[in-house]
Amino acid sequence: MRHLLSTRELDREAAIALLDVAEDMAAVQEREVKKLPTLRGKTVVNLFFEDSTRTRISFEAAAKRLSADVINFSAKGSSVSKGESLKDTAQTLQAMGADGVVIRHHASGAPHTLATSGWIDAGVVNAGDGTHEHPTQALLDAFTIRSRLHGAASRGRGLDGVRVLIVGDILHSRVARSNVWLLTTLGAEVELVAPPTLVPVDMTAWPARVGYDLDDALAARPDVVMMLRIQAERMHAAFFPNSREYARTWGLDDARFDRLPPTTMVMHPGPMNRGLEIAARAADSPQSTVREQVANGVSVRMAALYLLLSGERGEA
Ligand code: CP
Repeated sequence: MRHLLSTRELDREAAIALLDVAEDMAAVQEREVKKLPTLRGKTVVNLFFEDSTRTRISFEAAAKRLSADVINFSAKGSSVSKGESLKDTAQTLQAMGADGVVIRHHASGAPHTLATSGWIDAGVVNAGDGTHEHPTQALLDAFTIRSRLHGAASRGRGLDGVRVLIVGDILHSRVARSNVWLLTTLGAEVELVAPPTLVPVDMTAWPARVGYDLDDALAARPDVVMMLRIQAERMHAAFFPNSREYARTWGLDDARFDRLPPTTMVMHPGPMNRGLEIAARAADSPQSTVREQVANGVSVRMAALYLLLSGERGEA
């Protein structure tokens, strides 16, 4: 694997192989000494033009657990504020010896530009670009679902027949996009439920059903309910939904949570707006995978960095 830019371009075999490597990395996390020497001598740059807690820290932990050196770059406080371009920023970091660049950017397509422009030689991992994709989030979500369903027998499996309901701000969600592509590639059936104003205009290419009634969708007893964050920072104030109305119509509140079978997984990529798209009781319940998702993120990101940076990098 040369770059990891999108789940749309991952085929089933490659996706399962990455999840299986993540299984190995999860086993390393359980050891007393969590470090592997695999990427000793390699440098990973975390290039973050947007805020992040989980993704940035888990990529840093993942790189360090593979013995890579890590350079953390945040646009805030850097020469980006003086107008330095993505190209010049990336080439500056390349000059410091970056072998891998993990990039989060507000512009959809920025990681693709970095990977294909010839500006740098490093392998590029998309850590979230605008409203486009967040592939490692979808991979850690798939890993979490597979682990909950199959435990120690997960290796080699897809998610055939698993019914996943994704709820909320689909319009702005790179997590939803990456999950729709990856989960369906792995054999899951995906349904999206959202207010009509938070659904992209053209959904024809998406391999997922779209609905507008959360109670109907929950009554169909999906195996997984994935709640999305309302992304106020990407909305014009005039389009921001009334919070109380949103929670009443689209939120996983206590009443809806109480109607779920105890086996239904409740997921959220974080950060959560508690009381808006998800009630605290649902978020903190044993059915919630929120903390597992974060922990699995380290294993999945170790797998991605390992596949990108160890040995010869292929052309795929
Ligand atoms: N899920 C996710 O991407 O979280 P952060 O924005 O904190 O990285």
